[in-house]
Amino acid sequence: MDVPTMSIKATGAKIPAIGVGTFGSDHVSNEEMAQSVHTALRLGYRNIDCASVYGNEKEIGKVLNDFPVNREELWITSKLWNDMHGKGKVLASCRQSLKDLGLEYLDLYLVHWPFPNFHPPKCDVTSRSENARPYIHEEFMETWREMEELVDLGLVRHIGTSNMTKAKLTLLLQDCRIRPSFQEMELHPCFQQQEFLSYVKGEGIIPIGFCPLGSPNRPERDMTEGDAVDMEHPIVVEIAKAHHCHPANICLKWAQANGIIPIPQSTKEKNLLSNLESICSDPLSNEEVERLKGADCNSRLVKGQVFLWKEAKDWTDLWDLDGTIPCPESYKQ
Ligand SMILES: NC(=O)c1ccc[n+]([C@@H]2O[C@H](COP(=O)([O-])OP(=O)(O)OC[C@H]3O[C@@H](n4cnc5c(N)ncnc54)[C@H](OP(=O)(O)O)[C@@H]3O)[C@@H](O)[C@H]2O)c1
Repeated sequence: MDVPTMSIKATGAKIPAIGVGTFGSDHVSNEEMAQSVHTALRLGYRNIDCASVYGNEKEIGKVLNDFPVNREELWITSKLWNDMHGKGKVLASCRQSLKDLGLEYLDLYLVHWPFPNFHPPKCDVTSRSENARPYIHEEFMETWREMEELVDLGLVRHIGTSNMTKAKLTLLLQDCRIRPSFQEMELHPCFQQQEFLSYVKGEGIIPIGFCPLGSPNRPERDMTEGDAVDMEHPIVVEIAKAHHCHPANICLKWAQANGIIPIPQSTKEKNLLSNLESICSDPLSNEEVERLKGADCNSRLVKGQVFLWKEAKDWTDLWDLDGTIPCPESYKQ
């Protein structure tokens, strides 16, 4: 299958316009995830979205190394987890992911979240970690400087952010030496983030869309009453009927039409194949893209409650909705 690509201005590199996700949540074992990466490679995927916190990079690494494909044909992303922010830790974390994945370099390394807050696995959604902090730009820049060094060292070809907001990204763009080439963020028809998306693209940053299908099997902590279900939205379903395909495929075509690289995850060969095909043929018409704007109901699924600090009001504090970054005096340096 001829999978389209997008070009990265800064380096001239090309990234496949769809990737495969590898977050197994609580229900896909490491072995099963590695098996689905193998199936994905066999079907023609070449872009794999990994992260150290998913806990399966070793198993995936074995698949990558055993599969008969040239390294240059692959696009491998990994991410710095929140417990490895700060001086001296970024290099160690990147080297560990490289070792686990059995690679000499990563195509893309992302800062998974813009603060060093982490939580015990499977913790309750209301729990707040003792050491959790709001976004503090000076601290983030210490981490970013080390991300830049990874590029200098040739360990990673591109760096990027994930779960940033416009306010935070604006600060980073002012102060960075090497700009982020990518921003990974939640994007699906019921959560389109059109204004932020335009800003990201306007800055020449390529958006990677996570939960592109509305993540039906996401962890309990990310399930909130009232969350929209993209694959059941009437506009998505109606357009799927016209294209004789599953609503999942319309979610991915929507991403493509909006210049987003979706990274759907699946353990089923049939779904992996149809997801790949949706990007390779039968795109949406302009009129359908316009109609799909009507599916947007601002339904954020991954709210991030477990990253909240002591004084935070609620999860909206993580997303700078009024354009300002909350940071109580006591955290200011
Ligand atoms: N940067 C971040 O903070 C962040 C956050 C969340 C996720 N991510 C990344 O984004 C990836 C994707 O997000 P996600 O896994 O949460 O959600 P998703 O890709 O929106 O949804 C995955 C689910 O959809 C089902 N599915 C896949 N293809 C389908 C199809 N054609 N028809 C019907 N159902 C289908 C899968 O089940 P089956 O196995 O049954 O097909 C799977 O349970 C993750 O794996 C991870 O790599 C990043």
